[in-house]
Amino acid sequence: MAEPSLARLSALFFGFLLLLATYSWVPGLHSGYLSGTGVRKTLGPDPKLRVDHSSAKPHHPLDPLTVQEIERVRAILLDHEPGFGSGSATIHSMALDEPDKKRVVKWKKGNRLPSRRAEVLALSSGQSHVIIVDLDSGRVVSDVVNPTSGYPILTMDDLIVASQVALKSIEFNRSVEARGVKLSDLVALPTFTGWFGPEEEGRRILKVQCFTSQDTPNYFMRPIEGLYATVDMDKLEVIKIVDKGMVPIPKAAGTEYRYNVQNKPVHMDRINPISIEQPEGPSFLVEDGHLVKWANWVFHVKADHRAGMIISQATEKINEMT
Ligand SMILES: *[C@@H]1O[C@H](CO)[C@@H](O)[C@H](O)[C@H]1NC(C)=O
Repeated sequence: MAEPSLARLSALFFGFLLLLATYSWVPGLHSGYLSGTGVRKTLGPDPKLRVDHSSAKPHHPLDPLTVQEIERVRAILLDHEPGFGSGSATIHSMALDEPDKKRVVKWKKGNRLPSRRAEVLALSSGQSHVIIVDLDSGRVVSDVVNPTSGYPILTMDDLIVASQVALKSIEFNRSVEARGVKLSDLVALPTFTGWFGPEEEGRRILKVQCFTSQDTPNYFMRPIEGLYATVDMDKLEVIKIVDKGMVPIPKAAGTEYRYNVQNKPVHMDRINPISIEQPEGPSFLVEDGHLVKWANWVFHVKADHRAGMIISQATEKINEMT
């Protein structure tokens, strides 16, 4: 499995990356206008409108960490705990530690920003850490170990490692082969975190599920039910292999979704044209990266790794004209 499945796993995550990339294009979402036809076609983001984030500066107390700030947090953490450099400590998430609401409300454009802080969730020697890094002083201002139950979110490395660990078990391999599935067709993916029983309390566990990619590009349509492994992510060992006996594997027929491979004649009933236009351009304006002005509204918007989109300080201009 090692090589091909890693490639597949990466394919999965390209999806995520694409999503992320889309975020960075948001200011450029409106596409080119094709003169003469009167039809605006979806041409994708205009490269001219792409934002170069590498030198972005924060303009507002709630602005997310910039690329440069993230790099700086990383450097500060390396000083704090060398394990971050050697791989024995891992960063699982990093985001702005938002300043006190009162300070945000008082802040006016042109004022100095409240001190910029990052909240980092990390794992080190099997312990969860919530680390607050102050970017102005360049120091770790707090490092709390295991503040609650649970664990930081998974990293890409976790996912790759979990499937590799499962394949270290000869019993797991045999269970796969007993189903007539070649190991070269096996896709073993850790699709679940969770609680898997009292004997696993206090351990960081992933459940690895199996699929076969035989004769299909869409292995999610061919799950190998009744077989899974639970893996201890800190000890890197298989805890349990559950084999509930043979469950028929869905056939590959009909799972091909790639139009170019299906070789079918292109046929679609005629549909009426549609035209959606804003001939004078959009009505919104994005200022300083995150401040949106639209109609009577002004609000701060940012993407958050947990909440998705966060809208803050939404205000309506009332009776400005009177
Ligand atoms: C299980 O199969 C995989 C894929 O063929 C192989 O890399 C791995 O070494 C096998 N595990 C054992 C314990 O033989």
